[in-house]
Amino acid sequence: MIPAIAKLPRVILGAYPTPLDDAQRLSAALGGPRIFIKRDDLTGLALGGNKCRKLEFILGDALQRGIDAVIGTGGSQSNFALQLAAAARKLKMEPYLVLVRDAHPEKQGNLLLHDILDAHVIQVDKAEIPDASGPAMVARMNALADELRQKGKNPLVIPVGGHTPEAAAGWVNAADETWKQLKALKTKAQYFIITNGSTGTQAGLELGVKYLKLPTKVIGISVSKKNPEATKKVADMANETARLLSMNVSFTSEDVTVHDNYIGEGYGKMTEECLQAIKLVARTEGIFLDPVYTGKTMAGLIDLIKKGKITSKDTVVFFHTGGVAALFPYANEMTA
Ligand SMILES: Cc1ncc(COP(=O)(O)O)c(C=O)c1O
Repeated sequence: MIPAIAKLPRVILGAYPTPLDDAQRLSAALGGPRIFIKRDDLTGLALGGNKCRKLEFILGDALQRGIDAVIGTGGSQSNFALQLAAAARKLKMEPYLVLVRDAHPEKQGNLLLHDILDAHVIQVDKAEIPDASGPAMVARMNALADELRQKGKNPLVIPVGGHTPEAAAGWVNAADETWKQLKALKTKAQYFIITNGSTGTQAGLELGVKYLKLPTKVIGISVSKKNPEATKKVADMANETARLLSMNVSFTSEDVTVHDNYIGEGYGKMTEECLQAIKLVARTEGIFLDPVYTGKTMAGLIDLIKKGKITSKDTVVFFHTGGVAALFPYANEMTA
């Protein structure tokens, strides 16, 4: 592990390295390039996903501080919330989730799994709190933390998506881990393709690539934010993480690529291209993507190949960041 990261408090929650699948049938179906799928959907915590690497650092620190309850947020079917609740149960912390009720508040997918975990789920209306990343949600979570303190608990409020520099450090590691796997296969990748949501995952990868001087370009595919907000948020978090790790590298928005044209009508709204991408990957590789994040990211990769921006001479790593539980509440959209 990168020495500066090894110094951070951490609790191991997943199994690493996650597999790097050589997706030859998918690659052939798309007329090249060589595509590897980095299987962070197989981290081993709950149903897997990118938040496992982040939570190892957030909760490693929390353990040292005697935290016994965690408060997280997201949309109704938040994958982050599920990973947080599962990790909390494993670490004997009480999980509280304040979720903004969206199109899928039914007891399916992640909400069904919360029920099994016996997580404390509070769904709030958009009229009350429009956005899980806004100030009204922060105030709501802080109020809950006060209530818990009055009951003698020691709670931690965690920002949406686990958006902290400590968490992004987990994804700096992922760049290192992936590069070592490619090296063992005597190959290199020109592109890392990653979903951009709350942006910390891409920020960590960007920092890892730059710090390790890898000859690889990170391409983010946004599922929610438009530019210039998306690129700026990645650069800001990459810089904050570099400062935390005393890494002598820095970023501006211009160093970062995020495509914001695969979002469709909005976050969590299915697109035809996402649906077709999910079916193609399942039918060629036997791998399920999710309808909110990785399906749209794969749709972006397919489009970049079609447009000749990524060619048959290139090698790409597509990071599968999990989220598969959301396929079930999206059953209607999946058959549309
Ligand atoms: C399955 C999945 N992929 C990707 C992301 C995006 O990660 P980040 O929020 O770090 O940009 C998320 C975030 O919730 C997710 O659930």
